[in-house]
Amino acid sequence: PKPSSSVKLVLLGEAAVGKSSLVLRFVNDDFQENKEPTIGAWSHRPSNFTLTLISAAFLTQKCNLPTRTIKFEIWDTAGQERFASLAPMYYRNAQSALVVYDITKPSSLTKAKHWVAELQRQASPGIVIALVGNKLDLAGPANEESGVTDTEEEETQGDEENRRAISTQEAKAYAEEEGLLFYETSAKTGENVQTVFEAIANAIPES
Ligand code: GTP
Ligand code: MG
Repeated sequence: PKPSSSVKLVLLGEAAVGKSSLVLRFVNDDFQENKEPTIGAWSHRPSNFTLTLISAAFLTQKCNLPTRTIKFEIWDTAGQERFASLAPMYYRNAQSALVVYDITKPSSLTKAKHWVAELQRQASPGIVIALVGNKLDLAGPANEESGVTDTEEEETQGDEENRRAISTQEAKAYAEEEGLLFYETSAKTGENVQTVFEAIANAIPES
């Protein structure tokens, strides 16, 4: 059998950016339109061990790479501000982190940058960090970047409007500066979700 290692991964980001939804897509290949915020509650799943603690949920999922298997131990934290001070419990000793923002919400990128800075200051020195812009499905069918329209009337693109408020370019430039992996995802359609976790798994050094 291939060598297998456990990797602790923490998800951080503003409330409602889709952290739990990304985990649900990765672990169960599922999506819920009205997912409840992560807080203290408790649940159980038959196939994947799920335990919800105060301010975070814990799940595991394996990722098969060509030469090894990575077993992710995932801490999905609550994004609500009142839980922010508990985050160090979850990122302590983490080998990897997903810092998530919502591409339709500029404040969520600001918050993501704060988490990145905190991780760089306080987490393990070799931590692999991925910046993830979620809700890519809301960028519209052609996935065009929003240009600021000077006209009063809003541009329409068929039935679906483009709600993107943060350009790929802007976030990518920031990620490159800070040495982060960078992806845009949709937990709703599943686009790039597996890719993010695989990229993290690949970036974890073999020990
Ligand atoms: P907290 O637990 O409060 O920190 O929030 P969270 O980051 O875990 O967000 P959650 O996964 O609960 O998602 C919040 C809302 O956004 C839910 O209604 C989801 O259905 C929705 N959502 C999550 N991901 C996506 C996505 O990729 N696209 C769209 N359109 N909606 C999404
Ligand atoms: Mg959540």
